[in-house]
Amino acid sequence: MLFRSWASEVEAPWPDVATVTDHVGVPHLVVTRQALVRQVLADPATYRPDNALDAVTPMPVTALRVLAGHRFRLPPTLANNSGASHPEIRSIVADALHPARVAAQRPWLTALVRDRVTRLAATLDAGAPVDLHTELAADLPLLVLARLVELPDAPVGAVKEFARAALELFWAPLDADRQQALATEVGRFHRVLRDFAATGGGLAAELRAAGHAPDVVVGALFFLLVAGQETTSQFLTLLLHRLAGEPSVRAGLRTGEVAVADVVEEGLRLEPPIVTWRRVAATDSTLGGTVVPAGTSLVLWLARAGRDPAVVEAPDEFRPGQRGSRRHVAFGAGAHRCVGDVLARMEAAVVVAEAAPLLDGVTVVRAPWCPDNLTFRMPDAFVVRSVERAMDQQHDAPRSPEAVPRAY
Ligand code: HEM
Repeated sequence: MLFRSWASEVEAPWPDVATVTDHVGVPHLVVTRQALVRQVLADPATYRPDNALDAVTPMPVTALRVLAGHRFRLPPTLANNSGASHPEIRSIVADALHPARVAAQRPWLTALVRDRVTRLAATLDAGAPVDLHTELAADLPLLVLARLVELPDAPVGAVKEFARAALELFWAPLDADRQQALATEVGRFHRVLRDFAATGGGLAAELRAAGHAPDVVVGALFFLLVAGQETTSQFLTLLLHRLAGEPSVRAGLRTGEVAVADVVEEGLRLEPPIVTWRRVAATDSTLGGTVVPAGTSLVLWLARAGRDPAVVEAPDEFRPGQRGSRRHVAFGAGAHRCVGDVLARMEAAVVVAEAAPLLDGVTVVRAPWCPDNLTFRMPDAFVVRSVERAMDQQHDAPRSPEAVPRAY
């Protein structure tokens, strides 16, 4: 269950708290009930966030050498910081992502998405397949983030590759060769970040001015570049794919009976890009009647907690606005609750409003596939094509095997 938790049978019963041993023999206490997940997140003294960025597959010496060669360090800054510096670092980042600054990006993003949707609609009308992950969702969050926060001058593709490599290196089950390759990729970009952290303006300059050490500035930028864009790209793709299978929701969007914001919330509840998040027990405690010794790794199953029947009326159904729909924990809770929630919601709302009509009359050629990962979904593609045009082409085409529309 640990590395493909989204593929678990949703109907299958699952205990509130259960110990699951991972691929290297480490036991984790998986917490499912939303009330218990919230209890853990609300108590950072007992359940600390220190292990948030620990590699789930211990790094072999070869990969550690590669990282050390790039002087890679991830000191406690944001998600993994239970120290006194956390509130100040968090508030500097939160200022950069202030709701007013996010709202100011909305017209620009709407115009960009509208333009892309027009182009993609023309491609679909011409009978060609369209990958909505690559051509619509993948780069949007990074483009918006770069308008809010000064980032190193690197091509979009390089940042995306680095971010995906980091998510794999720290959260996937891996062999030593793969770890070494990923460490090379992550270490290389870390070096770019270190140079930028020393001289860059905006957020980097503010963190420096507040007296934070260079490693802390790098660590904050590192986390922001991964958490602040890759997660939302994943969510946009997963949500569009979900909407492709929810024609009545799309019909409600068309008539205005279904609110875009409600669709986004139901998406976060049912298709969260971050399926689990970790804490580590600082002291001995009891959780839902289970004894939790100090040092235990807790895996909070955020996705499952969003389907808790004690919270949601119809837990497995995509019903925007239903009772309990907004009471998910996709953004965590408590002192470390996601500071990018307003931004992620704005981006998703724009994409739903502008791109949902694209899904009318298409067939899914290739559903998103997600590699094994403890925490992140990382969909690779989402290819659709027009049903009508595909049928026209089948009628018009000569009867040779090559002319039959192929699966992507
Ligand atoms: C759909 C998209 C997103 C999801 C599902 C998500 C989810 C999460 C989760 C589960 C956490 C850990 C919360 C906890 O420990 O209680 C988190 C933390 C964080 N997220 Fe997000 N996030 C998203 C987008 C973003 C964006 C767009 C940004 C910034 C541009 C961002 C920045 C952060 C930061 C800085 C933290 C650490 C906060 C702290 O430790 O104080 N996230 N996010």
